[in-house]
Amino acid sequence: MPNPQLADRQLNAKVDALLKQMTLEEKIGQTVQYSAGFATGPEGSKLSYDELTQRGAVGSMLNVVGAEKTNHYQHIAMEKSRLHIPMIFGMDVIHGQHTTFPVPLGLASSWDPKLIAGVARTSAVEARADGIPWVFSPMVDIARDARWGRIVESAGEDPFLGAAIARGWVEGYQQNDLSKPDSVAVSVKHFAAYGAAIAGRDYNAVDMSDITLRQVYLPAYHAAVEAGAATLMSSFNSLNGVPATANPYIMTQILRKEWRFDGFVVSDWGAVAELLNHAIGPDGATVARKALTAGVDMDMEGNLYATTIAAQVRSGAIPESVVDEAVRRILRVKFALGLFDHPYTPVTPPYEPTAENRKQARAAADETIVLLKNDPMEGVGPLLPLGKYAKTVALIGPLADSPKDMLGSWAAEGDPKYAISLRQALQERLGDHLLYAPGCGVLAGRDENVLKHVSFIDQANPPSAEVTEALPNDDKTIADAVETAKKADVAIVAVGESADWMTGEASSRAHLSLPGHQEQLVEAIAATGKPVVLVMFTGRPNEIKWAGEHISAIVEAWFPGMEGGHAVADILFGDVNPSAKSPVSFPRATGQEPLYYAQMPTGRPAHGDLSRMPTNAAEKFLSRYIDEDNSALFPFGWGLSYTRFSYSPPTVNRAEVPLAETAAGRGPVVTVGVDVRNTGSLAGTEVVQLYLRNSYSSVEQPVRELKGFARVTLAPGEQKHVEFPLGFNELSFYNVESKRVVEPTVYKVFVGGSSLASETTSFEVK
Ligand code: NOJ
Repeated sequence: MPNPQLADRQLNAKVDALLKQMTLEEKIGQTVQYSAGFATGPEGSKLSYDELTQRGAVGSMLNVVGAEKTNHYQHIAMEKSRLHIPMIFGMDVIHGQHTTFPVPLGLASSWDPKLIAGVARTSAVEARADGIPWVFSPMVDIARDARWGRIVESAGEDPFLGAAIARGWVEGYQQNDLSKPDSVAVSVKHFAAYGAAIAGRDYNAVDMSDITLRQVYLPAYHAAVEAGAATLMSSFNSLNGVPATANPYIMTQILRKEWRFDGFVVSDWGAVAELLNHAIGPDGATVARKALTAGVDMDMEGNLYATTIAAQVRSGAIPESVVDEAVRRILRVKFALGLFDHPYTPVTPPYEPTAENRKQARAAADETIVLLKNDPMEGVGPLLPLGKYAKTVALIGPLADSPKDMLGSWAAEGDPKYAISLRQALQERLGDHLLYAPGCGVLAGRDENVLKHVSFIDQANPPSAEVTEALPNDDKTIADAVETAKKADVAIVAVGESADWMTGEASSRAHLSLPGHQEQLVEAIAATGKPVVLVMFTGRPNEIKWAGEHISAIVEAWFPGMEGGHAVADILFGDVNPSAKSPVSFPRATGQEPLYYAQMPTGRPAHGDLSRMPTNAAEKFLSRYIDEDNSALFPFGWGLSYTRFSYSPPTVNRAEVPLAETAAGRGPVVTVGVDVRNTGSLAGTEVVQLYLRNSYSSVEQPVRELKGFARVTLAPGEQKHVEFPLGFNELSFYNVESKRVVEPTVYKVFVGGSSLASETTSFEVK
């Protein structure tokens, strides 16, 4: 029973009692969700939302924000509708409501579910103050293709890390008690496998084996459900030919029957109506019936449940029990949240960030900034942290002074006026010793793409000649930036993507290099011979091969939230010792995508035993590119510190484990231990990572898989013993019958500070 509150007998008795009083129209009303701001609703919007609410024809709204606005509709629902059923207001609270934290991909780089639970907690408090008891978060889609714009909303490429982070979000938002006045119900999204869109193109079809679905893509959703998630959101994609929004296999078989989920499923925006484009039925009535009977309980903005279900119930095409079940699931969540007893939100003064909000946002960002590279420079040692030699600093680049981009995509009510840019943070530290030149735009000035974007963003107002003339001439601005760099001891070059235009929903990219003339800018600044620190503000792992080979220090800041500038400065100057590890692989070339460390073995591995190949073929016929290495430029789990850590050879508490004991699944059967020591002269935190390789099995398994991690903070010289208990959860996999099994095998164990971990031991399951 994943969420005991939703299964509670008394609560369900209340739900059933209410259901008995409801007309068919009132029941269907509960399955209908509309957005504020857009004119939707039955009868071509001839009715206002006020009237629809009063009739009981809408049970939920999204994008209505603030106590006054939500109370307005809630008063109508509670006082004027026949059965006084409260409205549930939902919203995309993704990485903060007002206090803006780093984007989810950044937060995942912390490998710190507790930190994420804290972020969720603050977000929940602020959402409730705005009248929102339901957030469309967390997004737990596994994202292995950096072309996909929504990788920024994900926890990256790995199912084990993804599941741990999903639990952190759910626990923080829901506190294991939906009835608390500052808990919010989550909507885990997007069910299912949305991140595997073919070719990384948003909304595209997904096609994968049941084994991959269950072993790689489902564990994070399942972890969220097990943690008590109250709702899920269906995804836009089709899955093996059946659109997720009308897919009984995932919505009913897996979610309800196997996982025993008692909450409700809301469709993604318009996804029920889009089933017409998926062409799985001749008309709206058919596709709505398919969605509802598959297990999608609420229609977000599709306007098909409102207009087509009643007639189909009356004609007998849909059993009324199907509608009843959907309504039951929705009412359960409304009761569990306490909305019947406490429907209104007290009006409080408008948000102003407190010192505490800022502290939390900065501490979060400090943990999410990944130090990708920090090579020694002649006569200077490692370039970072910036030492005494850096008296005058040139800050260059289009992301150096862009508060809005610090917030990242989908920043809810986050306001750029509260965001600290890197320029502002460095100004506070360096005063007159800071020089600044933007160098170029994020996109190429006067370039067609810019114009396309400008007109796309605001179609009603195509850019005037004045606007297009005002766009920068990058040749000149790059030359200015070079002159600025020459005057300084060190150049910090802040490059990246536009948070709104290039990352997030509908922002897939076919080219993963730095956009516009930024690559050229980086090369021009490097050519001055000054030491260069590259700081990247991006929503995905970009292709930065040239920089990876030529720039000594590289920092991936993602979009670090409202305290982003301060946090990056904390890292650059060494006030904070970086501890983040990338949850995604950085490609050397876009053509490597989808790129992830947990690759399957092949019969012809690029680096492996060639003895089984005829010698004349051995060099050519290998699984590799002829024009690029297979490996990542910076691999999954990678991230440097200003101190060094050493690892003892790992040990196991038993070398042989009985198969029957493991298969019984009653907890850990073997424990891997390792000593980690801080051998440098600074205190630091290491994320110790454990990977397993299953040496042989009936279904081939990845060359390595993360199965444990721990954040360990060590003083200089300090050593700690870290243990990883392993049991059925870590050792099982799905066989050809889609059964989760353990088989006799030898497990190779790798422990270290990234997915390249080389310290090994092994144990046998017999
Ligand atoms: C579409 C997005 O895919 C989803 O993540 C979001 O929650 C809904 N729109 C509501 O805004």
